[in-house]
Amino acid sequence: MTGAALAAQTPVTGLPFNTARPILESLRDDLRPAEFRGRSIAAIEADWPAWVERRNREIRARVEQGDEDSIINFLLFGTTFTSEPRLTEQDLATGFVSRRPIVERRIADLVTGAAAPAGNGRLEFVRAFAARKGMDLSAPAAPAALRTYLDQGVARVAAERRELAERATAAIERVLTNPATGLPEAATLYADRGLASDTSLFIDFAVDAALEALKANAVVAPGMVRRVAIVGPGLDFADKREGYDFYPQQTMQPFAVADGLLRHGLSPGGGAAIAAFDVSPRIIQHLETARTRAAAGDGYVIQLARDTAVGWNPNLVAYWKQFGGRIATAVPAAAPPAGMPVEMRAVRVRPEVVRAIEPRDVNVVVQRAGEAPFDLVVATNILVYYNVFEQSLALGNIASMLRPGGILLTNTPIFQLPSIPLTQVGFTDVLYTKESSGRDRIFWFRRE
Ligand SMILES: C[S@@+](CC[C@H](N)C(=O)[O-])C[C@H]1O[C@@H](n2cnc3c(N)ncnc32)[C@H](O)[C@@H]1O
Repeated sequence: MTGAALAAQTPVTGLPFNTARPILESLRDDLRPAEFRGRSIAAIEADWPAWVERRNREIRARVEQGDEDSIINFLLFGTTFTSEPRLTEQDLATGFVSRRPIVERRIADLVTGAAAPAGNGRLEFVRAFAARKGMDLSAPAAPAALRTYLDQGVARVAAERRELAERATAAIERVLTNPATGLPEAATLYADRGLASDTSLFIDFAVDAALEALKANAVVAPGMVRRVAIVGPGLDFADKREGYDFYPQQTMQPFAVADGLLRHGLSPGGGAAIAAFDVSPRIIQHLETARTRAAAGDGYVIQLARDTAVGWNPNLVAYWKQFGGRIATAVPAAAPPAGMPVEMRAVRVRPEVVRAIEPRDVNVVVQRAGEAPFDLVVATNILVYYNVFEQSLALGNIASMLRPGGILLTNTPIFQLPSIPLTQVGFTDVLYTKESSGRDRIFWFRRE
């Protein structure tokens, strides 16, 4: 394939009020942001440009919080800066109990590593993050300050994890007893959290299963997906599950979608042009760097780790084995640390495919990029970070980016408003593992 290109980039603009108006008109007053409750549409319209600007700033500030969460994950689960054992999600859920000394030694090792990153991209990131917070690691007092900062970060993340689990259980019960409040609660669980960047092969498998089902059900005709937007492609930094730090940071979703569209015959033989919208400077930068390297003839290497201690669904194993088959060639994989139950493969994506992916700094809640219309938009594990009003804005925005008949795939159960021209036309359920949490549902929405 040669890789298609999007049209020349047009400026990113604030979301026009004509997208917000029908949402405000149809949204229950208690689901509007507090500052808009009980106010007339005309009064809100007068404030709209200022609100959009402020909200854009506030949402972008949440990226910094998400970066801090990624650093805490790296601290707890990483293996490149320490010889201490990896902690587990269970340790986090139980507040570490007897493993507290391991946390302390990991903190000390991370601070030492960040002071001399020696080419380790994640440690360089920690060092830069600390500097932004006023802890320049070449200054004598900074290491102790960073240790305290990280210690508090671990406590915060553990407390948040517990609170989130309780809220999720309560919301699921309420979905059954009182859907009017339960559904918005369940779909907005992360609305006050930092914007995480994590991504994993699991969700790519789920989206792939949805693409296959779209074709099997003739929802999308062969060869018809030419222009795609991935909203929030993410970066695999150091997750608790399926994210490891013994290989460089990587993004996967744009490549997974390009590969799946070709394999299922949904994009033309030359492949689809893919826009990747994100608010995270480090994700945009990462994709820009990949494109620059691709222009010089370098492919993009993706490391594919399979946790052999967890019983993966055999279909997920099959997906892992053939990932990249249409866009990449197999290359030697990074070696996991001794004793880690991980099987590896790696692929190098061809430069022309990398060049067909265009990163754009767009906040999909309050900004619009002009490259529309798209045939397909993929927005997984992103809408859940927003309240119902902001989700609706993002959905109205996505609807306006799709051509009539175009498809949105998302795994967030959406609070559907009649004013947004997106109709659910199906869903795909996938199982990742045997655990009850190891599942996902991808909803298919069609632009009217
Ligand atoms: C948790 S990651 C999910 C990554 C990937 N889509 C997946 O499902 O694994 C969320 C991604 O959405 C991005 N994001 C969050 N809010 C956004 C917004 N308002 N506009 C654009 N991107 C956003 C984050 O920076 C990050 O890349």
